[in-house]
Amino acid sequence: MLIAVKDTYELKLNASAQLSLPLGLVQTLRTRLGKPADSWLRYRLPQIIGLCQSRWGLEVEEAIPGGATAVVLAVRKAGMSAVLKVHPERELAERELHGWQLWAGKGMPSLLEHDVELNVSLQERVIPARSLAEVGDRDIAALAATGLLARLHSVGRPLNLPTLSTLIARRFTGAQALVKEGQAVVTSDLLSRAREVADRLLLESGPDVALHGDFFPDNILFSQQRGWLAIDPQACRGDAAFDAGTWSYAYGRGGQLRSNAELFAQHLGVSSERISGWALVVAVTNLAGRAAYGHADQAEVATTLAACQELL
Ligand SMILES: Nc1ncnc2c1ncn2[C@@H]1O[C@H](COP(=O)(O)OP(=O)(O)OP(=O)(O)O)[C@@H](O)[C@H]1O
Ligand SMILES: [Mg+2]
Repeated sequence: MLIAVKDTYELKLNASAQLSLPLGLVQTLRTRLGKPADSWLRYRLPQIIGLCQSRWGLEVEEAIPGGATAVVLAVRKAGMSAVLKVHPERELAERELHGWQLWAGKGMPSLLEHDVELNVSLQERVIPARSLAEVGDRDIAALAATGLLARLHSVGRPLNLPTLSTLIARRFTGAQALVKEGQAVVTSDLLSRAREVADRLLLESGPDVALHGDFFPDNILFSQQRGWLAIDPQACRGDAAFDAGTWSYAYGRGGQLRSNAELFAQHLGVSSERISGWALVVAVTNLAGRAAYGHADQAEVATTLAACQELL
């Protein structure tokens, strides 16, 4: 007997319109935010979407799957394709907007509209949204990623951005909460050792650059017109090796951490020890969340933990 499993969450936008959201995203938001997630989804989200539609003349097409922190919608504005991104969390929305203000049109798509109070951005849509995560040749992917990173790091003055240490503190607080709830595959000992590594790297940091803050391969999309572009920034200022470390962990999910760090060090002229140190920090904090939200299977957990142990 076949059992139909519903993998969408049906959201009533108004009397005549409904929107299907990916169930995985809804479940992740519930785990991240707890009870308030449901009232945000049911009441606040339709209100925000309605305000953006009337203010900016948007036609909502569908939800785009893939994200874990915000609701991302394919929309049309005057016939043009765009993306409306709505964050439930102000801090993440602010960091993202800092990034758009710094890099929109320069290594990122254009920012068409935004509203700080509503935690929303309306972005140029990259079509088709092929990401660097889909590029299987590691050397080609690294070349594209380092070229884009060098560009992002050299654009703009990072002075008014929040510091990397605030981003790191937030990530450790989130991971610590999961460890306390018994949800994480990461132990509290591994978390404290990663925190020590982060503290040492922060203390020995060189000059600050403007960091993307979430330089994962699936946050880098190919535009026919403008080549590789970053989306989804968590902009902050700090050590250039941090973004390279995020990539080194994320491309291959821990399995190629050290060799990725060496490749990036060659391309960017940044120390490979610092890159792999940051890769360890990102791996530990990210794995805690990915495993708790059901995004990491056993093989990924084992590979990432082994790569982290090797570096400690
Ligand atoms: N400007 C854009 N153009 C085309 N596709 C986009 C754009 N912005 C987002 N997307 C698509 O939506 C997905 C989710 O978007 P995004 O990464 O911004 O969300 P998120 O919830 O912040 O994700 P994360 O889990 O990385 O925090 C992307 O992986 C991409 O496929
Ligand atoms: Mg993303």
